[in-house]
Amino acid sequence: MLYYSAQLSLSATRLQYSAGKNTIFAAMGQKKLQRFAEIETFPNVLIYPEGMPGNWHTFFKNDHPLTLELACGKGDYTLGLARRYPEKNFLGVDLKGNRIWRGAKTAMEEPLPNAGFLRTQIDKLANYFAPGEISEIWITFPDPFLRNSKQKKRLTHPKFLQLYQPLLAKDGTINLKTDSPELYIFTKEVIEAAGCILIEDIPDIYAMTEVPPLLQIRTFYEGMHLEDGRTIRYLKFRLPEAPLDWREIKLPSHAEATEGDD
Ligand SMILES: C[S@@+](CC[C@H](N)C(=O)[O-])C[C@H]1O[C@@H](n2cnc3c(N)ncnc32)[C@H](O)[C@@H]1O
Repeated sequence: MLYYSAQLSLSATRLQYSAGKNTIFAAMGQKKLQRFAEIETFPNVLIYPEGMPGNWHTFFKNDHPLTLELACGKGDYTLGLARRYPEKNFLGVDLKGNRIWRGAKTAMEEPLPNAGFLRTQIDKLANYFAPGEISEIWITFPDPFLRNSKQKKRLTHPKFLQLYQPLLAKDGTINLKTDSPELYIFTKEVIEAAGCILIEDIPDIYAMTEVPPLLQIRTFYEGMHLEDGRTIRYLKFRLPEAPLDWREIKLPSHAEATEGDD
């Protein structure tokens, strides 16, 4: 009898636990859905828009230079740079609507009229910008895609540099901030192999006696990496003038995609 009542109470606890978990997941799902619906109404967010190339001045209501933050997540660099440079425009780009929601909400509340967000895939960037329309790119803590077979997904792979090249203004720069030693080394190899101009190379930002003000902007993921004791690295570079052809760029053999990779 005692055994059965113990079993019954255990089952009830399990049921309660599982119901509790489902309630939490349901609440999380509900919140996400709510945020997806909300960003549709935000004036500072565009979701897979059409007709944007050459028209960002209408979105920002001025013709100031435009900087992109790719893989922006909650848009910490978009917001941080927008606060520092009111005479420039900043656009965070990410796939995830609920992350963009956070940055866009903050930009509306402060307010930061020079900060906006574009929800799309970075691979589709050419659909949204006219040649030379972007003056600078920040890539903040992108997924490093450590498997060699996934290297073409790295946002500093020559394939992506070729995508950015026509959209970037002459002398436009690319900034990468990462905790990944693999992505940092890979990007340096790409810079060299693609004939890019390396402007700054900081292998450990927080080991510097004075961290440059722009590098003090801390992203959500950066905060987590710092808590884990990881080293934060930074590269700044410019693309070559000659058009890139990523298939012609020879990376060191260990960085080459293996046969059969897409
Ligand atoms: C590790 S998080 C970094 C977010 C933010 N930069 C930070 O440091 O807190 C990487 C972000 O890249 C976005 N992302 C990955 N691949 C993408 C793609 N192809 N197009 C758009 N966003 C992408 C993800 O949605 C995610 O928000």
